[in-house]
Amino acid sequence: MSERIWITGAGSGIGEALAIAIAGRGASVIASGRRAAPLKALEQRHPAISALPLDVTDAEAVTRAVAGMGRVDTAILCAGTYLPTPGQSFDAATVRGLMETNLMGTVHCVAALLPGMLARRAGRLVLVASVAGYRGLPTAAGYSASKAAVIALAESLKTDLEGSGLRVNLVNPGFVDTPLTRQNSFPMPDLISAEAAAATILRGLAGRRFEIAFPARFAAVMKLLRLLPDRAFFAVMNKVAGR
Ligand code: NAI
Repeated sequence: MSERIWITGAGSGIGEALAIAIAGRGASVIASGRRAAPLKALEQRHPAISALPLDVTDAEAVTRAVAGMGRVDTAILCAGTYLPTPGQSFDAATVRGLMETNLMGTVHCVAALLPGMLARRAGRLVLVASVAGYRGLPTAAGYSASKAAVIALAESLKTDLEGSGLRVNLVNPGFVDTPLTRQNSFPMPDLISAEAAAATILRGLAGRRFEIAFPARFAAVMKLLRLLPDRAFFAVMNKVAGR
């Protein structure tokens, strides 16, 4: 029985690279995303991939899609979006949009998957957050807040589901070259390709660690920021912000 993997945000970037890599290993992949065209193209090129267009912000559509999906062994919840939310032009609608996709989109998928996985006492939830969720980063209040929430979500679920037969993983990427980051005008240290990110995630999922954070050096720097006292943290952030 081949493994069945559901990937959201599979139309581009990290999700697409994961879908291709996983399909190449003989598992069957259900590839979801908002846009049908790139998913159909994936399906045509890779027989192990089936396209399932889906907007993760639509809770009812997610419930229906999961109900029709049958057994899912692993769900990699990668759908996400980024927009800057600088304090000088702070806009609630933009923050809400980030929360709806990054946090609630993930929540909808987890809520739809859990009953079936708990009944089978098997399944794996892989939540994709970001190292930007470790602390509030400049011009990224909305994005950092949404990813901090996904990190907390994964941590809480990991403890709650201990002993249930389910596994929970948290993926925290640094900068990955995808359509999401191509809009950035600032320097992106240690930028890696989506293919390298997918390979690192798959290596991590084969191991036993809860968190898969990469690339190693940049993730270590971001973890260090989390440990800094506020005064030192804000001194570094002011430097990053060019003040
Ligand atoms: P991407 O923009 O290439 O991929 C995100 C995918 O999610 C897109 O295909 C998009 O259509 C889909 N998506 C967006 N809203 C959706 C919705 N409502 N319903 C269904 N699908 C939706 O970006 P990338 O870089 O591959 O991002 C994947 C994940 O990795 C995101 O959660 C992102 O926040 C996270 N991430 C990315 C980093 C990077 O440097 N590229 C760094 C840290 C985290």
